[in-house]
Amino acid sequence: AIPDDAASRIAAWQRRAGRHGLPWQHTRDPYRVWLSEIMLQQTQATTVVPYYERFLTLFPTVVDLADAPQDAVLRAWAGLGYYARARNLHRCAQALRDEHGGRFPATAADLAQLPGIGPSTAAAVAAFAYGERAPILDGNVRRVLARYFAIEGDPATARTARRLWSHARALVDAAPADLDMAAYTQGQMDLGATVCTRTRPDCARCPLSPDCRARIEGRQGELPTPRAR
Ligand code: ADE
Repeated sequence: AIPDDAASRIAAWQRRAGRHGLPWQHTRDPYRVWLSEIMLQQTQATTVVPYYERFLTLFPTVVDLADAPQDAVLRAWAGLGYYARARNLHRCAQALRDEHGGRFPATAADLAQLPGIGPSTAAAVAAFAYGERAPILDGNVRRVLARYFAIEGDPATARTARRLWSHARALVDAAPADLDMAAYTQGQMDLGATVCTRTRPDCARCPLSPDCRARIEGRQGELPTPRAR
C-alpha cells in the first residue's frame, strides 16, 4: 500500500526546499503555464526566464500568438533551440483559436489532444493552472518513481512506462483531498532534478527516503534499469 502522506511529503518538501520565484510560478493562467512548460522541456529555467517574459510582451494572449506570422514566433524563440517546439507552439495556438474559441480546455485529457502537448505536459498544465489531480511522468519523475516503487525495466519501453504511469496515478489517488497539486507537481520535478539525480541520489535530503524501496534495498544505483544496449 502507498502511504497516504507520500505525496504530501513531496509537496511540503517543495515549499521548503524546491525551486521558487520563477515568473510562471505566480500565475494560474493556462496560457502562461503552457508556454513555460513547453519552454522548460529542453531548456534550463534560468535561460527560459527572459524568453518567457519577451514572449508575453510580444504575444500577450494565445490568440495574439496564433495571429502572429510564424517567422515572428521563430524569431522570438531563437536561442532556445529545438525549433520544432516553436512550430508546434504556434500550431497549438492556432488550434486553440480556431477550434476552442481561444480558450484552453479545462482538463488534462482534453489538453493532451492538442498539437505538441503530450500526456505529461497536459497533466502539468492542468495541475498548475486548475489544481487537477493529474499525475505527471517526465524524465526526472520516471527516475524518482522507478526508485521509490523499485520498478524494474527500461522506462522507455511501453510495458515499463505503463507501470510507471499506473504508480504515478496511484500516488496521487492515495493522497488526501487537500493535496497542493502545484507544489506536488513541481516537487516531483525538483526532486528528480536536484536530489534523486541519476548518478548521485542524495537520499539524506529526500522526503521519500523512509519508504523508498530502492534506498531500503540499496539499489539506487541499479534503478531505473538502464536502457538495454
Ligand atoms: N521542466 C518541465 N516543467 C518544468 C517546471 N515546471 N519546472 C522546472 N523544470 C521543468
